[in-house]
Amino acid sequence: MNATLMKRLFRVIQSGSNADVDTLCRRVIEEEKKQGHGRVAKELERILTDAPQGKAVPAPGTLQRLPTSRRDSALLVLEIPVDKLRHQIVLPDVVERRFHRIEREFAARTRLAKHGLKPRHRILLYGPPGCGKSLGAERLAWNTGLPLRKVRFDTLLSSYFGETLANLRKVFDAAQASPCALFLDECDTLARSRTERNDVGEVTRITNALLEMLEGYSGDGLVIAATNLDSALDSALFRRFDEVLKVPLPGIPEICRLLETTLSSIETDSAIGWREIARAMDGMSGSDVVHVAQSAAKHCVLEGRRRVIDGDIRHALAEVQERHQAS
Ligand SMILES: Nc1ncnc2c1ncn2[C@@H]1O[C@H](COP(=O)(O)OP(=O)(O)OP(=O)(O)O)[C@@H](O)[C@H]1O
Ligand SMILES: [Mg+2]
Repeated sequence: MNATLMKRLFRVIQSGSNADVDTLCRRVIEEEKKQGHGRVAKELERILTDAPQGKAVPAPGTLQRLPTSRRDSALLVLEIPVDKLRHQIVLPDVVERRFHRIEREFAARTRLAKHGLKPRHRILLYGPPGCGKSLGAERLAWNTGLPLRKVRFDTLLSSYFGETLANLRKVFDAAQASPCALFLDECDTLARSRTERNDVGEVTRITNALLEMLEGYSGDGLVIAATNLDSALDSALFRRFDEVLKVPLPGIPEICRLLETTLSSIETDSAIGWREIARAMDGMSGSDVVHVAQSAAKHCVLEGRRRVIDGDIRHALAEVQERHQAS
C-alpha cells in the first residue's frame, strides 16, 4: 500500500466514519490488484466480506451496498460522504430557485406522500462545460443529506454488451436499496463509447435500458444526470426526468459573486473596477472565473503583498484570454 493511501486510511479510522473506511479499504484492494498482488487483494476482500456485523469495518450495509462489476469486482461507483461534499455554488436566481425547490420537496417527502405526491427525484443538469453541473450535483446531495454516489463509467462500460447492462442494473439496484444521490456525470459517455465503435444498435439498446431503469427507479434518494450536450440525449430521455435544469454560463452579477467568494479569504484593494472586470469576463465559464481569481490571489501572495490589486486580476484574465485564443 502506498504511503498516501495508508495516511488517508489512518485519518478516516481516526475520524470514526465507517463509510469512509470501507471506501478506502476498497481503494487499497484495487491498488493491490493494479500492482499485480492478486492473492493479497482476494484475502483482503474476504476479510471485508467476512467481517462480523457491528465490528470495526464495515458498518452494516455500507460496503455491501456499493455495487461492483461482474467481471472483476471493481467498484462501479465512487461514494462521496455528505461531509466531504462541496456545496457553495453561484447561480442566477431563477436557477437557484429551481435547485432549492428540489431540496424543499425532498425535505417534505413524507408530507407529500400523504397526498400521493412524490418529490422531484430524477434530475437532469445540462449546460456548457465548467459552469457548475458537477458542483450542482454535490450541492443537491449536501442539502438533502444524501451521500453522492458517482457512477464510474470506466468500470461500468464493458466491451461485452450484456455485462454493461448487468453493471448498470447493479448500480440502480444498489441505489434502490440504500438512499443516495446517484450521479451519472457526463452521461453522454454511455452513448459516445458505442458510437465510437459504430455500434449504433447497442447505443439504442443501452439508452433504452437506461430509460427503463430511470423510469423504474423508486428509491428514497435522487438520480442526477449531467451532460454538456443537449443534443446527445434524445427526447425520450428528457421526458424521463422530472426536472431538467440548465446550468448556464454566469452573467455579470454571477461573475461578480464568483470573484467575491473566491477572493473572500484575502484582502482586496478598494480601487478594483469589479464591474468593468466582470464585463470583460462575460462569456467565460464559472471555472475560468474562479481560475482567474485564484491565479490573481496567488500572484499577490507570491509578490509579498497583503492586498489583491486590479492589475493582479487583469493580468490573470489576460492569460486565460490568451489561452482561449490559442486553442
Ligand atoms: N456556478 C458556479 N459556482 C461556483 N463555482 C463554479 C461554478 N461553475 C464553475 N465553478 C468552478 O469551476 C469548477 C468546475 O465546475 P464543474 O466541474 O461543476 O463544471 P461542469 O459544468 O460539471 O463542467 P463539465 O461540463 O466540464 O463537467 C468547480 O469546481 C468550481 O470551482
Ligand atoms: Mg462536470
